[in-house]
Amino acid sequence: MKARVAVHREFRVGTIDERLYSAFIEHMGRAINGGIYDPGHPEADERGFRRDVLALVRDLKIPAIRYPGGNFVSAYNWEDGIGPKDRRPVRLDLAWRCKETNQVGINDFAHWASMAGIEMMLAVNLGSRGLEEARNFLEYVNFPGGTAWSDLRRSHGVSEPYGVKMWCLGNEMDGPWQIGHKVATEYGRLADETAKAFKAFDRNIETVVCGSSNDKMATYPEWEREVLEECYENVDYISMHKYFGNNSKDTLNYFAKVEETGRYIQTVGAIIDYVKAKKRAKNDVRISFDEWNVWYHDRDVDSRRIKEWDWPEAPPLLEESYNFEDALFVACLLNEFIRRSDRVRIACIAQLVNVIAPIRAEKDGPAWRQTIYYPYQMASLYGRGDALQVSVDAPRYDCRVAADVPYLDAAAVHDQQGGMVTLFLVNRHLTESAALDVSLTGFLQPQLDRHIAMGGHALTDTNGADHQDKVAPSPGSGVGIEDGRLRGSLPPLSYHVLRVKVS
Ligand code: AHR
Repeated sequence: MKARVAVHREFRVGTIDERLYSAFIEHMGRAINGGIYDPGHPEADERGFRRDVLALVRDLKIPAIRYPGGNFVSAYNWEDGIGPKDRRPVRLDLAWRCKETNQVGINDFAHWASMAGIEMMLAVNLGSRGLEEARNFLEYVNFPGGTAWSDLRRSHGVSEPYGVKMWCLGNEMDGPWQIGHKVATEYGRLADETAKAFKAFDRNIETVVCGSSNDKMATYPEWEREVLEECYENVDYISMHKYFGNNSKDTLNYFAKVEETGRYIQTVGAIIDYVKAKKRAKNDVRISFDEWNVWYHDRDVDSRRIKEWDWPEAPPLLEESYNFEDALFVACLLNEFIRRSDRVRIACIAQLVNVIAPIRAEKDGPAWRQTIYYPYQMASLYGRGDALQVSVDAPRYDCRVAADVPYLDAAAVHDQQGGMVTLFLVNRHLTESAALDVSLTGFLQPQLDRHIAMGGHALTDTNGADHQDKVAPSPGSGVGIEDGRLRGSLPPLSYHVLRVKVS
């Protein structure tokens, strides 16, 4: 098939907020305990954090990380995780029906995040608790000293405040499963008052209000409208969450869930605009897509296990094994975030280690990269700069979730400082190569600097502790510059990162 792509130096979507490549990690399963933190592991440092896991995290160049939940946060007492470890209580985690030992709390996590070079994005409990505990937490985390909560932090050995800027006002509060679930107006009022208090503390703080848990919720999209009507002026972002899978064993339909996500983003964007106009508001609210990933391989099995188990401590949970098909899907989804980066400013892969994660940390064994690690890494490393509008002229297909889906999925980013245009391309065709022809209008002397590719795998191929690099990127071939255009052939079911030097 022929696949013509056109980009133009002047036709920009906007400057990408680097937080588009953020992550999320929750106190659940073996994400924190048994993931980033495992004092008994040979790779553990003096504070119990695994060096090998940290190295894989660092290689992702993650700008921000959302913590500590997730459903977990809605019944979490942040005070349980501070002070001497031997005096921290063990509590029941009602979200995942486990025991939480609290051996990692805010100061421990902040230490890990600073080692990883990642900014924290903290969520407060607006489920079982409320404004009072949230404001105390803020004071503990962000006030320099001389008050009860800030001095308590100092007594815990942290003299400098963390200066956390991004705060999530609860988690998935529309979900009936959430501890402390609320109806929209009730939650909207609480979010408004909490955001108001946070901004009274520091007007530079950014607040994220909960949108729907996904676009299949019965209350979506009314939830967004009702919540925003209560709190629009005091919030900076509204959250979106969505998990994906090839449940119907139909690869093209799976890939097209990216288009469905585009509609979801568009709808939430339209609601933001509607409420802004209705309220005659001056501020803009953007989107924080702070939970996204593939989650379906073992989802039902895990749901059953949770119901049956007897409050275990850090059990393996949601440890999805990702295949090559999932990597291609993740590549397309990241392309969609780039294409819609005018609306979506923050996005967090959910989660980071072990639990639906790009990194697996084996108990007593190695840490390794899942297939989805790579497209996430490529986007994070090379997807910074200005997102360009991309026109794709390629054959299209119809499927259950979308119509008119181009077989070639494309995004382009111009790094002006580095003099580089990066194209992220996925040939989603099951059997045909794409004869690629890219025009780069306004860019002078284009030279192909690097071609990284993933392809030639069965869709079901996975990585594992004993075959860690089975699915991994390698230098690409078959694409070059001819007459100032990028031309070449992209095999079916393959992913390409084309780095083009321009002046
Ligand atoms: O990431 C796993 C769970 O998915 C989170 O705890 C929750 O917010 C979402 O439903």
